[in-house]
Amino acid sequence: MKVTNAEFIISAVGPDQYPVDALPEIALAGRSNVGKSSLINRMINRKNLARTSSTPGKTQHMNYYRINEALYFVDFPGYGYAKVSKTQRAAWGKMIEKYMLERQTLKLVLMVVDLRHPPTKDDIMMYDWLQHYDIPICVVATKADKIPKSRWQKHVKQMKEGLLLRSTDLFVMFSSELGVGKEELWAVIQSFVES
Ligand code: GTP
Ligand code: MG
Repeated sequence: MKVTNAEFIISAVGPDQYPVDALPEIALAGRSNVGKSSLINRMINRKNLARTSSTPGKTQHMNYYRINEALYFVDFPGYGYAKVSKTQRAAWGKMIEKYMLERQTLKLVLMVVDLRHPPTKDDIMMYDWLQHYDIPICVVATKADKIPKSRWQKHVKQMKEGLLLRSTDLFVMFSSELGVGKEELWAVIQSFVES
């Protein structure tokens, strides 16, 4: 997809702030600091529209980005960040859960994981939860540039086996640094936006 327009719309703290124009939404879930915001920036060719940081916990609300007046990327706070209080974590959990289960315009969840390591317990829990509720998911394993190309396939296998993916489940290897996987991921997204 050729991105001609990308805008930050709102940092929502709850449903009353979600957009009401019914455009399809692509949500990003994943561990804190895994690279969700960077992935958005790479997909739209912008350095820093989605705020990124080497300090985990940067994304604290649901940030809506509108692309080409055609869809939204919804950037979520990461899970598994130890420095966030239990109360705060529970509140996010509730908000995310409610959104995933009730948001009519949600078309696809990009579950972002780190290609370098096997999935964490939280990753596995998240994946199983989404599957259980029949929410469309594409696993995106990012930071591929951090391992040598010769080992990519080994790590892909490790990730797929760790999450118990079936051969029909969607999976894209990605690098925000290099742009690997960008076109493949756009093709996946478009198939869900158009359906
Ligand atoms: P939270 O908002 O805290 O949940 O984090 P996030 O998942 O949005 O991660 P973010 O995009 O802010 O990236 C975290 C760190 O990883 C930053 O220092 C990024 O530059 C780095 N990073 C993200 N993606 C990649 C990638 O594909 N390759 C490399 N080398 N670094 C990456
Ligand atoms: Mg972020």
